[in-house]
Amino acid sequence: MEKLQAALEIARRQRAAQGQAPVAPVEKPAPRPDGRDGLWAALGPVDLTRNTLIQARILSQDASMESTPFDVLRTKILYQMRQNGWRRLAVTSPMPRAGKTTTSVNLALALGRQPELRTILFDFDLRAPTVAQKLGLGDAPSITPLLRGETDFSDHAVRVGPNLALALSGVPDPDPTRLLMADSTRDALSRIQADYDPDIMIFDLPSILIGDDARAFLQHVDCALILARADQTRYGDFDSCEREVAEYTNVLGVVLNGYRHSDGKFDAEGAG
Ligand SMILES: Nc1ncnc2c1ncn2[C@@H]1O[C@H](COP(=O)(O)OP(=O)(O)O)[C@@H](O)[C@H]1O
Ligand SMILES: [Mg+2]
Repeated sequence: MEKLQAALEIARRQRAAQGQAPVAPVEKPAPRPDGRDGLWAALGPVDLTRNTLIQARILSQDASMESTPFDVLRTKILYQMRQNGWRRLAVTSPMPRAGKTTTSVNLALALGRQPELRTILFDFDLRAPTVAQKLGLGDAPSITPLLRGETDFSDHAVRVGPNLALALSGVPDPDPTRLLMADSTRDALSRIQADYDPDIMIFDLPSILIGDDARAFLQHVDCALILARADQTRYGDFDSCEREVAEYTNVLGVVLNGYRHSDGKFDAEGAG
């Protein structure tokens, strides 16, 4: 893990020495008169409680100093995904507790503050779903019927504000690998994408080196963000994870979570 942090530190210094230009601002597309506002408005609205969010390290609901790292991540991700025409982003890591769910939720809320964008966050860590818990939405139903095509998205999903939908998973699924590889899941996601036309679909996945679930699903996304935890992830694990992910999809970038700056402050550092 020291190696990973040292590599990031060198890259950081090199960038500083080169005086790297800031990331280009995201172009705001015109609001789309596509008749989907009614579909989005029909999703059940939920209110989030500030204290619950803060306890779970969810800091992106409003623009603030604390939300800045996630706003920067949002801008970088959007820029790259738009350049490539990509809509589906997986978030994964080598091992658990790297910060996948924390980052996915913060990113989704940061995207939700862009009124011209529509975002859907899916909790696809089907063995151990935690998105609902982090958002204080404890009694979410199982996502399994949605992915089997037995429940409509309009009945399952909830909405934060006008343009962020959450497909929560409140009950662990007994056989996630099978469900994630199933044609019914592929078809359900295609239908949701066609009906709701989100600009970005974020999938909070399990870890790559634990089980087969994330690997089974990566073929259905356009790109993946890999989370590494500066104080925990071992370089060998990170390397194996990155190679595996790259076999199935495009590696959009790496977030080094819990990165300790030389001044002692902690942060999340994105490496595109
Ligand atoms: N940068 C960080 N510093 C301290 N704790 C963190 C940080 N990022 C995440 N955590 C905490 O670590 C735990 C695991 O994070 P989580 O996002 O649930 O990981 P994952 O989804 O990868 O298993 C949570 O308790 C979360 O609040
Ligand atoms: Mg998680």
